Parts: sequence; C-alpha cells; structure tokens
Amino acid sequence: MVIFGAAGDLTKRLLVPALYNLATTGLLPECFALIGADLADLDADRWRDSLRQMMESFIGKTASESRIDKVDEDTWKRLTGRLAYIRGDLNDDALYQKIGQHLAQESDCGGNCLFYLAIADRFFGPVVTHLGKAGLFEENWDEDGKKPEHWRRVVIEKPFGHDETSAKTLNTSILRCAEEHQIYRIDHFLGKETVQNIMALRFANGMFEPIWNRDRIDHVQITVAETVGVETRGRFYEKTGALRDMVPNHVFQLLAMVAMEPPAGFDAQAVRSRKADVFSALRTVSPKDAVRGQYGPGPDGVIGYRAEKDVDPQSGVETYVAMQLAVDNWRWAGVPFYLRTGKHMSRRVTEIAIRFKPAPYAPFEDTNVAALPPNWLLLQIQPEEGIALQFEVKRPGPVVELAAVRMAFKYADWFPKEPNIGYETLIYDVMTGDQTLFNRADMVEETWRVVGDVLENWSKEKPEDFPNYASGSDGPAAADALLAREGRAWRSIMDNAKGS
Ligand code: BG6
Repeated sequence: MVIFGAAGDLTKRLLVPALYNLATTGLLPECFALIGADLADLDADRWRDSLRQMMESFIGKTASESRIDKVDEDTWKRLTGRLAYIRGDLNDDALYQKIGQHLAQESDCGGNCLFYLAIADRFFGPVVTHLGKAGLFEENWDEDGKKPEHWRRVVIEKPFGHDETSAKTLNTSILRCAEEHQIYRIDHFLGKETVQNIMALRFANGMFEPIWNRDRIDHVQITVAETVGVETRGRFYEKTGALRDMVPNHVFQLLAMVAMEPPAGFDAQAVRSRKADVFSALRTVSPKDAVRGQYGPGPDGVIGYRAEKDVDPQSGVETYVAMQLAVDNWRWAGVPFYLRTGKHMSRRVTEIAIRFKPAPYAPFEDTNVAALPPNWLLLQIQPEEGIALQFEVKRPGPVVELAAVRMAFKYADWFPKEPNIGYETLIYDVMTGDQTLFNRADMVEETWRVVGDVLENWSKEKPEDFPNYASGSDGPAAADALLAREGRAWRSIMDNAKGS
C-alpha cells in the first residue's frame, strides 16, 4: 500500500489507525508492505516513529477517533515490519520511478498495489497521470481476460472536483490512465456501520418496504450537525465551504440509502446503479430552496468563523447549509427531503428522520386529543447509534390523552463495540476489490449537477447578514423559514441528542 501524503493528518489520524485495526483482526494480507510518499524531510524510521507517536497518543482517550488500550507489539510489527518512506515531489517523474523500483523489490508480495491519495485535491489528477505514465496501473490480465495476475487500485479522497465541470474534467483525466474498476472514489460516511445498516433495515425486513413511499411518508429530514468549527482547516474551508464539503458527498450518500430502489443483488454493479438512479432523479436545487449560514461568536468566548485562523475577516463562506430536495420518481413524487448540515451547532447529531403521514381519521372526538402528532422513524447514525420509532400511546389515566413514546434499538445493547474508525471496511473493500461502497464516475458528476445552480448563485453575491447564527445554536432562522413555508418544522437538534 502506497500512501501519498504520508506525513499528513489523514494518514496519521485515520488511515494508519484503521490499518492497525485491520492488522489486529487479522484482515491485513499476510504479506503487507506500507510505503509512504511525501515531500516532508523524513526517512522510514522517522516516519514509523511519527506514526507510532500518534497511535500512542490515542491510548485511553475515549474521545479520539481510535480508541486503543495499548499498541500491541506484534500487530505493530505486522503493520510496519516492511515499511518504507520515499521522499519526493508529487509533480516529479522521479518519485514514481522510485516507487516503481520499490514495488519491484517487493515482488514477493505478489504485485498487488493499493495507491491511496491522502493529498490535496489539486494533486489527484496529476498523481494518477504520473502513476499511469510510469506504468504502475498495469495489471497483466489473464489470457481469458478474467483475472489479473496482480491488481493495481487507487483510492481518491474527497473533494472529487468542486463542481460538475471540474468533476468531469477530473474523471476524464484519470480515466485516461486507469480503468474504472481500478478507481475507488471514497466517501468515508459509507464506512460507518450505521450507514451501511440502512440497506439491511430496508431490504432485509419485509415490514418497512410497503410503507416506504409517498403514500405513507410525509417528508424526510437529514441532519448532520457538528459541534466542531473549522479548527485548523481555515484555508481549505475558505475555498470549500459547507456545501461542497458535506452535501453532494456525505449528505447525499445518506439520502441515496433512504431513497434507492431495492437492488437486484448486493454486488457493486447492482447497488451503485440503484444509487445512481437516485442521483439522476434528484431535481437540480433552485437557489430559493437553499439557505446558507455562517457561525458568529458564541457563549464562553467561542470565536466566530471570521475570526478563525486563515479565514478572511469579511468572509462570505458558509459554514451551514439547509436545502429542500425533490426526488422525481414514482416512489418519492411530492415527498420533500430536507437536509441541513453545519459547524458549531448545539449538538453533534447525524440523523435521518422519516416522518409518516398522520392517521387518515382521528376517532377522538369529545376527548382532550386536539391533533394527532406525527410518527417518526429515526435512523441514528452518530454519536447515538441506533434506530428508534416514535409513536403515540394513551397516557395512563381516566382522561383520554396521547403521549409520544419511543421504541429504541441501540447498537451498543446488542453488539460489542469493535475498534473501528470507519476506514477499515473501506480499505478492506479496496483490497478485496469490492467497489460497492465507492462512487462511480457518473455518480459524482450527477451530485455536482444537483447543487450546481445554488453554488453558482452563491458565488455571485456575498450574504449581507453573515454571520447569521451564533456558535452553539441550531442554525440560522432562514432555515426554519424553509420548512415553515410548507407548514413544517425541523426536529430540535437538542431533543434528537437527548433521545427524547
Ligand atoms: C469531512 C469533512 O469529510 O467529514 C469535515 O471535510 C467533517 O468538515 C467530517 O467534519 C465529518 O465526518 P465525521 O466522520 O467526523 O462525521
């Protein structure tokens, strides 16, 4: 496995801990060599030490991505026993020649190679082109054209392009050098167990599918609320903003899981085609159906976005987005999907809330029951991991009154928590050649198409009301208005988190 961006944060915080977990569970191949490529002035020993230091910093820290009790020596050896560091410039042919020579030396590993691009997105195209030029994508297929002698695969991080045109350009450029079956466009949300479980919930149970449509569902709310701000990523965020950072990728993946038709099988071709159908059916969002926000200062001295490091003090970049989407097909005609995501909000909650239509008739005349509250199915992605159904019961007592209660399934009550930071499944899938959880070229292009008009509209003018929500709040008032115009309201983020 060759990691480009070996000295970077993603490698240290997520990739190496995920590889360590794979080594722990015995899912790393017997013969495994880790090769780091970066411009940083390091050598194999110093790179190994820096990775080890990071791993050790996770020990006992329950809040860190990787919760470990110790670094097990045997596991560490399995992971880093054949480690190499190749220093070089991503734009320089020499780096790829050195990598090629090194891979040739590791030929007892069978020649399989996973290239992981943990680097800034402007380098995705150039690195893939260089790898192609250096012949590093060649797979030597069997004569019958079935199985390559060895495989070569590349993982490309997000953001994959910054709009439809650039995504198409990037696809064209990488597909000149590698074939689609070699390209793994990653979205780490798909590595989350709770996200993968949406398909199991829908398609392994007979009871949900009959009500999973416009006849019974009133609308869907998808919330990805974060409490973190932009932290050290001001420079990246100023170019990206919340919409590009979260919506066409993470949030749309959640939407696709809810909206997709049942696939004919669980292979990559079937699943990805059904998801691609959803993206094609998504209507291009009109700017009137989108709201942007930026966090200002909050209580306890929390600074606003404009005061963050590497951020323009007059910045017009959004840290919050809310949108109303329509899926134009038979299943979902007339069912709005509302999305919202933001930084520095009141609670960390990722949740899909499906609101059902009220009962067609309320036989509660002459009682205290004024209106029938809605039923909700809640798919809790994180940090709460579970599924809950909220419905009405009669409050005990002589008077007829209803009360909303919850039937809740929590993963933690049923399954022991495995050490998992979310990248394990994805890396393992790349090694086993399973593209189900990765985006195909057409999928990323479609998702950019959906948000294209909003992006263009927002780039034209800076909002005058920024900052328009306080750090630690639930987002700007305009987002409430988006739902209020159709007589609806967001679920409270605080209530979601409390599990009420
Ligand atoms: C990343 C975004 O892709 O996902 C970040 O760039 C965001 O801005 C993160 O915070 C959220 O991922 P998770 O797994 O922490 O919910």
